[in-house]
Amino acid sequence: MIYDPYPYFKLETKDLHYIFRVLPTGQLEHLYFGKKLIDQNFEVLHQKITAGAGSQIEYERNGHKTLLDLTPLEYSGIGKGDFRLSPIEIKMPDGTYVSDFIYHHHEIQQGVIESKSLPVAKPHEDVTSLIITMIDEICHVEMDLIYTSFVDSNTITRRVVLRNIDTRPLIIKKMMSMMLDLDSKDYDLYTFDGGWIKEAHKHKRSLSYGTYIIESTTGASSNRHNPGIILAKHDTKEDQGVCIGINLVYSGNHYEAVHISNHDMLRVMNGINPHCFEWELKENEVFETPEAVLSYTDQGFNQLSKHFHDFVNQHITPRQFSHVARPVVLNSWEAFYFNFNQSKLIKLAKQAIELGVELFVLDDGWFGHRDDDTSSLGDYTINKRKLPFGLSHLSKRIHNMGLKFGLWFEPEMINPKSELYKNHPEYAVSIPGRTPSLGRNQLVLDLCQSDVVSYIKKQLKSIIDTVEIDYIKWDMNRHITDMYSRSLRHQGMFFHQYILNLYDILLDIQRSYPHVLIETCSSGGNRFDLGMLSFGAQVWTSDDTDPIERLKIQEGLSYLYPLSTISAHVSLAPHAQTLRDTPLSTRFNVASFGVLGYELNFDYLSPAEKGEIKKQIAFYKAHRDVFQYGQFKRHEKEDDHHITWQVKHDQTCIVAQYQTLANASPAFEKLEVKDIDMDQLYRVENVNQRLPLKRFGHLISHALPIKLNTNGFIMRQIGKYKMLDNAKIDEVASGRILHQGLKLKQQFMGTYYNDQTRIIGDFGSMMYVIKPVSGGDVS
Ligand code: DGJ
Repeated sequence: MIYDPYPYFKLETKDLHYIFRVLPTGQLEHLYFGKKLIDQNFEVLHQKITAGAGSQIEYERNGHKTLLDLTPLEYSGIGKGDFRLSPIEIKMPDGTYVSDFIYHHHEIQQGVIESKSLPVAKPHEDVTSLIITMIDEICHVEMDLIYTSFVDSNTITRRVVLRNIDTRPLIIKKMMSMMLDLDSKDYDLYTFDGGWIKEAHKHKRSLSYGTYIIESTTGASSNRHNPGIILAKHDTKEDQGVCIGINLVYSGNHYEAVHISNHDMLRVMNGINPHCFEWELKENEVFETPEAVLSYTDQGFNQLSKHFHDFVNQHITPRQFSHVARPVVLNSWEAFYFNFNQSKLIKLAKQAIELGVELFVLDDGWFGHRDDDTSSLGDYTINKRKLPFGLSHLSKRIHNMGLKFGLWFEPEMINPKSELYKNHPEYAVSIPGRTPSLGRNQLVLDLCQSDVVSYIKKQLKSIIDTVEIDYIKWDMNRHITDMYSRSLRHQGMFFHQYILNLYDILLDIQRSYPHVLIETCSSGGNRFDLGMLSFGAQVWTSDDTDPIERLKIQEGLSYLYPLSTISAHVSLAPHAQTLRDTPLSTRFNVASFGVLGYELNFDYLSPAEKGEIKKQIAFYKAHRDVFQYGQFKRHEKEDDHHITWQVKHDQTCIVAQYQTLANASPAFEKLEVKDIDMDQLYRVENVNQRLPLKRFGHLISHALPIKLNTNGFIMRQIGKYKMLDNAKIDEVASGRILHQGLKLKQQFMGTYYNDQTRIIGDFGSMMYVIKPVSGGDVS
């Protein structure tokens, strides 16, 4: 909803108001962003400037005056008295950097305003958009500030469109998607940062005077810093306190800046990174920024996450996959890496279907001469040595088994050792006269060239048209360097044009094959952002599948993205990246909070472990709507080694408790459940996860009637088939008791053990299912 009792504008969502006004001088004053107000008189929200400080610049227009530097604004320019960090830097048609955009007119429209070049949130419910057209009267440049309010998800999107109507060109050096001025500096900044195999770790930063910048310069949204950030009042916790979340529908170099002025006002902005950016606009040309997404709550981070989760599920995910159950995957990568052939794949697929897997994904290595990562990217001809009967034949066999078939591509890349490079070296990104740097032995295809775009589309289509494919894993495994394209009029366009053309390819594939589920990936979560999610409904979260590492990665992402987007696989232990040996149950208990898959060779598992996996998959399928579309909540951490997650859908709640380090003689513990009907009776059961004998090592010998070497042949054989039951929890309690915390059976504490003792240990975990007593059996 949008109301415009001029000069005021009020955007409304289910719980929020966003209010601003046109100042008598023509700029837009930001007045309010927060919970709905009952006030009708918005004058009370005006900045009450009664005496300008000594060094302030007085802005004057049409007989009205203001001090821009002291006014919270919706968007600012340069060179007219606002000396805080500016959202724009434009070399205007008159050759100066001075821009002075003032209100010209506005329009309110039902629905979203489509973008010509970039993905934007899609309407699902009743949404309304507001376009405020601002104009620089001297230079004849128009700027549309576009706002859309998404009622149900309590989010507001903003973006900017710039039109040059001057006969002389202008050059954009910086143009943010939005800017927001807050009247307090008492916020902490939360960011989600990392690198390969340690993506999206949450960091809290104190803010002080000056500017704090989060950005990516790698050509992708990057694993260094996610574009999503949160500003939270100092006392904000998971379920209480004020926080504002900001994200960007963009997959390239992004920039988020928080500036605190000398008058304690906080300015935040986000958009395309000005780093190496330069965009010329000739007469009548238009530039569109990506869309920024904003939300607010006074009920803590979990509530903010709910807004973002609802927003992504309803407005970002491709329509045909919105709220659609995601299949359980078996991915061939960690099972075989490059070393496979048809019979190995068929054997793996047979085991997978036997255990309940629904989608078989053939990862890297099926084309050209690709036996390692040194060759063949760019040549999507089937490797006949590995697949003598071809891909179509393999896909048919997989489908005949009752599985869906998915295929890996890395469409944006080229190996110097490839047919494509031999024939078209000019397709690779490189600067004439300089040797380009390699990353993972590969170069980047120059997506700025239209020939390259056509080549990629043709290559992909030649495979998808001939092979029955239900899913694509769209990978991208290097950062961009040596950026130069012969087809650009300014090299400052490179990074953004690359992303525009990437979106063009993705859109074409999505429109041509709407039934194909796309999972995007970039060495794991190097491009986990709302732009990629507009085309691919889920993202390969990280190459790190160690559940203890995933607790940090998935938890970080959960602040901004719903579980339906977080692809999470169970792999072997000890883990390939950390050498950490974790229980199979914990690997599942973490991976199930997302889109579940397995990525391992079943031959390395014992019959008992395979039995466990079969039960895990059956359990996940029975609760898939809870795990993929339930409301996820993080519990406040009491210490660094105990983490609790819960997810709730309809009346079913699943709570998982993870213990990354066991305490000797631990305290009694409770199972707390949030967001539950106090006066309802619930049945609480733990998911039966059995314990391998080796978990007890030599201690098992104390429990045996005869003395056996616990590392010997006989024990190893027994261990393949036999596992021990963990303590069973099966109790009925009211929501009130669960809210306060249900007392749990003791954990193993060193001196005594019986079948009622919960065995958790280092890296252990337990998952509990809570259903109303009338809800039936949970086993
Ligand atoms: C990086 C991805 O993150 C992995 O899952 C796998 O697909 C490899 N690329 C294949 O090269």
